[in-house]
Order: sequence, then C-alpha cells, then structure tokens
Amino acid sequence: MILNKWAKLRVVVGAVLVLWMMVSVEAQELPHSCARPDQIAIEHLHLDLKVDFESQKLSGSATMKLDRRKAADMLYLDTNGLKIFKIQSQLNGKELKWSLGEYKSNLGSCLSVELADGVDEITVYYESQPGAEAVQWLTPEQTTDKKHPFLFTQSQAILARTWVPCQDTPAVRMTYSAKIQVPPELLAVMSASNPQKKNKTGVYEFEMKQPIPAYLLALAVGDLKFLKLGPRSGVYAEPSVLKKAVWELADTEKMISAAESLYGAYRWDRYDVIFLPSSFPFGGMENPRLTFATPTILAGDRSLVALIAHELAHSWSGNLVTNATWDDFWLNEGFTVYFEQRIMESIYGREYSEMLARLSLDGLLAEIKELEARDTWLKLDLRGRNPDDGMTSIAYDKGYFFLRMLEEKVGRKKFDLFLKSYFKKFAFQSMTTERFLSYLKENLDNKIDFNAWVYSPGLPADAPVVETKALDRVGQAAQLFLEGAAPSVLAADFKTDQWTTHHWNHFLRSFKNDLSPAQMKRLDGQFKLTQSGNSEITHDWMILVIGSGYQAGMPRLEEFLTEQGRRKFLQPLYEKMATTPEGLERANRIYAKARPGYHAVSRQTIDQILNYQPTKN
Ligand code: BES
Ligand code: ZN
Repeated sequence: MILNKWAKLRVVVGAVLVLWMMVSVEAQELPHSCARPDQIAIEHLHLDLKVDFESQKLSGSATMKLDRRKAADMLYLDTNGLKIFKIQSQLNGKELKWSLGEYKSNLGSCLSVELADGVDEITVYYESQPGAEAVQWLTPEQTTDKKHPFLFTQSQAILARTWVPCQDTPAVRMTYSAKIQVPPELLAVMSASNPQKKNKTGVYEFEMKQPIPAYLLALAVGDLKFLKLGPRSGVYAEPSVLKKAVWELADTEKMISAAESLYGAYRWDRYDVIFLPSSFPFGGMENPRLTFATPTILAGDRSLVALIAHELAHSWSGNLVTNATWDDFWLNEGFTVYFEQRIMESIYGREYSEMLARLSLDGLLAEIKELEARDTWLKLDLRGRNPDDGMTSIAYDKGYFFLRMLEEKVGRKKFDLFLKSYFKKFAFQSMTTERFLSYLKENLDNKIDFNAWVYSPGLPADAPVVETKALDRVGQAAQLFLEGAAPSVLAADFKTDQWTTHHWNHFLRSFKNDLSPAQMKRLDGQFKLTQSGNSEITHDWMILVIGSGYQAGMPRLEEFLTEQGRRKFLQPLYEKMATTPEGLERANRIYAKARPGYHAVSRQTIDQILNYQPTKN
C-alpha cells in the first residue's frame, strides 16, 4: 500500500517535472519572433545601407555584436522578404553557414546562422525587396512638394524585419549605429542622432546610444529641411511644410518640461519631429529622438497637438519601459494616453483634457460593442494573429481609464510618485502585465482588484466619470438640431464660432443614426463642413456624408481618401461605405485609384474590408 503511494507520487512528480520542462522550454519561445535572446542576444547593430530609389532597394549590411549568454551556437534572426547574400564572422572573416526557414504569413522566414566557437560579431550582407512592408517609396508626385522622391519606414509592430535582419521582439534591446548613403540632393534621418542639414556626399552617420527594441528602428529620406523649435527640439519637413509645422508645434518645449516634471528626466537628449508625406499610415510614431508625424495634424490652429504630447510621452511609456510582448500593448499605449492627457492638462487646463477624455470614453464604449469579448481584456491574446489586431481603443482608452481609476483611488500625489519611480526603476527594460501588477500591489495598493480591468471584458463598473460641461452643451446643441432647431440659431446660442476641433468632433459624433440629406444640407449651409480644412472634422463629417447619401459631400469624400493615407481616417470611411451595395461600388472605385498611394499597413487593412485580391506584384 505504502509503496504504491510512493509510486503514485513519483509518477505525479515526474509528470509535473516534464510539464515544467515543457513550459520552461516554451517560455523561451517568443510570440511573433523566432529569436532566442535567452541564448544569444544582439547587443549592438550597425547598418551600412545604400538607398536606391531606382530599384526600390536598401542594400548593404547589418553587423551585429552578440552577447552569447548560453552554450548555444545557433543564432535565429527574424527576416521577412529579405534577400541574404552571405554572412561573415568578424572574428576571422570566415563565411558562416546559414539557412532561411519556411515563410509564415505576417512573421516571415527565420534566418538560422551557425556560429563557430568564439564568434561574437557577424555581418549579414543583404538587400530588402521593393515590396518590403515597412518601407514606402514615394515618387516625387506623391510628396507634398512634388520635386523629389521620398522614403520612410514604419517598423512597429513586426515590420522591422522587412528591412533589417534582427531580433524583432520588444523583449530585446540593442544600441545601434548606421551609415546611410542617399542621393546627394536628399537628407536622411533616423531614430538616432541626426544631421540638421544636407552634405554634398549624401552619406550620413547615425548613432543611438540608448538600447532600444527593433520596432523603434526608423529611417526617412527626402528633400528635408530643419528648423529649431527650442534648445533641444526641432522640426524636419519638406520645405513648403516647414514654417506651418514650426508654428503648429510652438508648445513642444513646454510639453517636454511638463512631462519631465511629472515623471522624471527626458533620457534621449533631443526631441525632434518629422512631418512625413500624407500617406504616412499613422497619426504619429514614437521613434526615439525623432517622432514621425502625419501632416494631417497641421490644422492651422494648434488644435491637434495632443498627438505630439502622446508621441513625446512614449519617450517614457514604451521607449523607456517597453511592453515585453504585443499582448502587453496596453502598457505602451494606455500609459501613454494617460501621460498625454496629464501633459495636456498641465499646459491647457483640466477643461481641455476632460474634452479629450470624453472623446476617448465615447470611442471606447462604441468599440467595445464591436469587438469580440476576449479582445476587450487589457491583457490581449494575439497568438497566431497579426499584432496589429491589438491596435484598438482597448489598449489605448481602457488602458487610460484603468490608470485614471487608480489615480482617483489613491490620489494624484501618490500615483504620480508611483509612476515616476516605476519609470526610473524599469528604465530600458521590458515589462509584462503581470510584472507591472505585482509592482503595483507592492508599491501602490495591495487591495486593488484589477481582474475586472485586466482579465475581463468590457468597461468595469468602477470606471471614472468624465466631467465636461463644454461637451455636454455641445450634446444639447446636437439634440436641438435633431428636434428641428435651425443651424443659425444654434450658431448664435452655442457660439459655434468659438468651437474647437473637439467640440465639432463631439457634435458630429452625436448623430448616431444617419441624418437625412436635407439635414446635412442645412448643417453644411451654416457651418461649411464640407470645406473644413481640419482632417479630424472632415473625417467625422464624411462618415455622415456616407450615411446620409449627401451628394454634395461626395467629391470631397473621394478627395479626402486620395489625398492622405492615415489608416485611422481611411478604415472607418471604407467600412461605412461597404455597408451598402451602392457605397461598396463607390469604395471600390475610389480604392482602385487611391491604393497605389497608400502605405502597406493601410493597404492591408483596406484590402480586407473590400475583399480586394491584389494581383501579384
Ligand atoms: N505607437 C503608435 C502607433 C502604432 C501602434 C503603430 C501599433 C504600429 C502598431 C503611436 O504612438 C500611436 O498611438 N499613434 C496614434 C496617435 C495617438 C494620438 C493615439 C495614431 O497614429 O493614431
Ligand atoms: Zn501611442
């Protein structure tokens, strides 16, 4: 009997051990990457690349200094569509054996390199292909000034591997340097130390001394000029955009100071912004030292600069403390929305930031209705999916409200100290949701029940309340209009001439059910919305144009979808069109013309909405 018990116990212990081994082996396997940094990690990357607009290729080499952490001799690198020529050891110049694994969609092909003893530096000779998804090659006609070609990259989330062989996981950090050769009439800039003017040779050198994850590798090449904003900030843009950009970003230094007094020193030396051509698929991208931005925020009234506060805030949340996997994306974006709003509040006041918060809440509630329940947990599960699927208002806005709930629970003073110490303690490290939560329990409040926020769907009952009289009034105006009030009366009673972009956003989003063409005409007659030069207002108005079938707005709709490629604007408009047969026809017709001008990231999204089958390219 007793022996039998022992035997049973041994079986159980054995099984547990095997399971544990399986789990620990698996634990080293990273989602969305074939890299094994637990064995060998890239410490420093040096890129030596030539930018060729003719062939649309980046060609040259990537030299990697390796940290060999375990007795392993296989190095695994992520690549997607790269052509590899040879791989050399820097120890003795010998060629190393390598092979490319099978291609997996979204992930690409794993490059395995056999390292001999003692090899701790290698050079990969390679070139990217014209279809590289991170890279957009623009003809002169596709730029703002229409004189010179332009190139920019967008590496987040897993597109760095389409232009650099690397360990493309946010769990690994490396320093990097680069030598980039471009046509002499163009300037190159990167997420690194940057030149401020062109030189005759067209060769530029870069250095990023702080370790960063691969998704922050970035390059832009074009007819760029630089102007200073403040002692440590400035703007790059095509010549015709530059002055407008400098005017719009006048508060940038204030934002840096506000951010520093909230959560500690800015750790990246300079903060510059580059305005890209209008096909840039995002509003902004937090490439360290150099935010990449869409020109669609240049509204002429500084009303859309929260985007700069957002990308700047990533210099702490995201770039300093980085989500370990894309399932932890809210650690990047939720923190950043929270931080963005704190910066905005400190410069423009609580009333202003509460308007932003209300728009964020409304967007969140609307999106929760659309998403699958599992996709509304803060902790995502993106296994086997494109990490891009995680870019919803859950990470951003549910993340924001979770942190705001914590702030309101413990008080702002205590919360700010907590966040400041968090950024300091985990600077230049990656962070999982679980690690953050245990730090939170230990250092802020051990009674907080975060399950409802992090591991459950929807918006929990203890979500903060947003108070904005300004937008409540705007809501009343919308209601009165629906009840028949004349727009001219609204204009007088609600002083609509003093409304900012955010008032208009809220007003237009209040019309959940489609308006009639006659109602649209009355609004347009008074407020000239079809002619708005503000991209955020245009977007919201165009949703109503489509919903109502307001014909006078259609030419502008087509123009808006062709003149810029920001996915946040394109996606809802194409989706809305696709809900009726007539709209779908319009969508397909516009898309056929506009698609060649969109970046691959936007193309992929719209292809799906319209069921577009690209012919082989
Ligand atoms: N890092 C994101 C952009 C991103 C996320 C690119 C995931 C690829 C994958 C950036 O900081 C961002 O959030 N941009 C927003 C603007 C912001 C004000 C909400 C955008 O582009 O709309
Ligand atoms: Zn962001």
